[in-house]
Amino acid sequence: MARRAADYVVEKIQEAILTRGRAMIALAGGSTPMATYDRLAQPEERNRIDWSKTYVFFGDERFVPLDDPESNFARANRALLSAVPIPRPHIYPIPTQVATAEEAAEQYQKDLAKTFGISSSHEPPQFDLILLGLGQDGHTASLFPGAPSLSVTDRWLVASAPGTLRPYVERVTFTFPILNAARNILFLVSGSDKATALREVVEGDVQANDFPAGGIRPSAGTVTWIVDLAASAKLDMSRRAT
Ligand code: 6PG
Repeated sequence: MARRAADYVVEKIQEAILTRGRAMIALAGGSTPMATYDRLAQPEERNRIDWSKTYVFFGDERFVPLDDPESNFARANRALLSAVPIPRPHIYPIPTQVATAEEAAEQYQKDLAKTFGISSSHEPPQFDLILLGLGQDGHTASLFPGAPSLSVTDRWLVASAPGTLRPYVERVTFTFPILNAARNILFLVSGSDKATALREVVEGDVQANDFPAGGIRPSAGTVTWIVDLAASAKLDMSRRAT
């Protein structure tokens, strides 16, 4: 899974640099992508990427200090970013050092607007690639079932109250408008506890309010799922992992 995912990430970064001169990607939190991050840090993958033209963001963050072991940035930094020659100014952690999660969301929207060279009141920027995970309850990023964040249409990021997911802290998350503006979305899903949610989101007729991952439908982009055998167990046979 990590090999396939790392290969996909490298390809999308190369494609973006070739066509637009730089690659804008957003990483996911959670534990599933860690093996992919480790793999991307290995010389055979690391050396396929022009890091001087790659910019790394985060699709959601726990509202904890950036050096907290639960921080999505801290984990990605340890596994990947500190092990590759990416210029430090190309790494954009969600700024959790500010007073509130709302403030962090507002500040990050401004940081994104500046880096993409657009106005923050403009349509959301188009990421070349956004990595996402899937929760047992159908959440993705920090968009939780039934949460007010699911109906936000006028902001790229919002603060979100702690959901039912550990760690039980406030979060800052991308909203549907920015996620669905992406050129490519890659979901990484592993484990048998995700099998029902995966089936519902991929094959069911779910509402985003109940299964937020079902609301990921990029208007002009692709969605790719890389899942392990256990997570794929309840999918239609023709889609099962091999
Ligand atoms: C987080 C996430 C969250 C995660 C899923 C899957 O901050 O925890 O962004 O959406 O991707 O909960 O997490 P696992 O990969 O740990 O199962």
